Amino acid sequence: MKVIKIEGNHDLSGTIKISGAKNSSVALLPASILADTDVTICNVPEITDTDVLCEMLDFLGADVRRASESVVITPSTIENKFIPEKYSKKLRASYYFMGALLGKFKHVEISLPGGCSIGARPINLHLKGFESLGATITTENDKYIVDAKELKGANIYLDIASVGATINIMLASVLAKGKTTIENAAKEPEIVNVATFLNNMGAKITGAGTSQIRITGVEKLNGCYHEVIPDRIEAGTYTIIGALTGDNLKIYNIIPEHIEALTSKLEEMGADIEIGSDYLVINKKNEYKPVNIKTLVYPGFPTDLQQPFSVLLSKCNGKSTIEETIFENRFMHLPELKKMGMNISKEGMKATFIGPNKLIGTEVNATDLRAGASLVAAALTAEGTTIITNTEHILRGYEGIVEKLEDVGAKITLEEI
Ligand code: UD1
Repeated sequence: MKVIKIEGNHDLSGTIKISGAKNSSVALLPASILADTDVTICNVPEITDTDVLCEMLDFLGADVRRASESVVITPSTIENKFIPEKYSKKLRASYYFMGALLGKFKHVEISLPGGCSIGARPINLHLKGFESLGATITTENDKYIVDAKELKGANIYLDIASVGATINIMLASVLAKGKTTIENAAKEPEIVNVATFLNNMGAKITGAGTSQIRITGVEKLNGCYHEVIPDRIEAGTYTIIGALTGDNLKIYNIIPEHIEALTSKLEEMGADIEIGSDYLVINKKNEYKPVNIKTLVYPGFPTDLQQPFSVLLSKCNGKSTIEETIFENRFMHLPELKKMGMNISKEGMKATFIGPNKLIGTEVNATDLRAGASLVAAALTAEGTTIITNTEHILRGYEGIVEKLEDVGAKITLEEI
């Protein structure tokens, strides 16, 4: 098992470059299947989630060449075969192989997707979308078989503005006959990034980034060159770390508009933050004003930043609250933060924090990716040493987290025990 060890209470200064977005990359890699010729994707973060997706493409017979953050994929050699659990269970985004393979071959067989256990995470809306396009779905022994004689454009209304369902339906419909409309589509920047990629390949998608996406099916898609947008959740995580420990900490290669829900909250708390065109500079403060947050779909406060943000509430003088509205099990970091000294109570999907609290290093467990990020943030501001177990979760989503933090002065090591 890998553990991260952090000696806390050191100020961090210098610069941190934000990598390409995990949640874009994990859709773009499977989406490459739809092209007939080579696809080049740049700025793909080197994290275990993208490693697994490249392995899956390779398993299907694509030629995948990866040089640092650039991935070149030759999809023309792909053979459409059953994707077993040993791949699909490793991450949530394996479900994008459903939309991509269905779109290209009109048939897909795949085991259930895995990912962080932050809630039930059904995929009924993805499947409903595929059915609307004319596919039939059979499940047997934890395996989905999705098949269509032909895919025909349809009007699809999503009961929930789901990121995964919106992208998966786009993937399945770009080569379908006729027009597809997705109503109540998710508006996250990653969706715009994927739609731009598909349009660069020759697709006809309009409205990405709004709640109505319109897709006109085309006959074929060609390869293209595409760049992944900066990771807004990674940017937000380091910004929070800066508010806890920063001494002129500069976070760059960001799109500030993508993290406005966070930065405006930080400003409300009284944070010392300067926002530039593609960077921000943040200094820690010893005390902040208490705040209330509620997670919402984009452009609201992202559920993925709720967990790291919780740590900041230990510096607030008084009562703060967090209401989680997206995933019912996204509070697993709270018992760990309590172990480190935070005063937290939880009722249903709402947590109350009474601060300020002094954090003390101890052994804590990263139950999921963003819970792990919250423990890194807590450990960096705590007194003494923190040992974080189950760090595989963290490495799934944060490129070079140990090196990036080390470079700005953190006392952090990754150890195999
Ligand atoms: C994606 C992100 C994840 C982020 C989340 C919300 C990826 C790989 N992961 O997850 O980091 O936290 O968006 O911004 O991009 N739902 C259903 N039925 C469905 C689909 C979703 O009920 O068919 C529910 C989910 O259980 C959840 C809500 O809708 O309560 C939103 O989920 P969704 O936006 O789909 O999240 P993911 O795509 O899984």
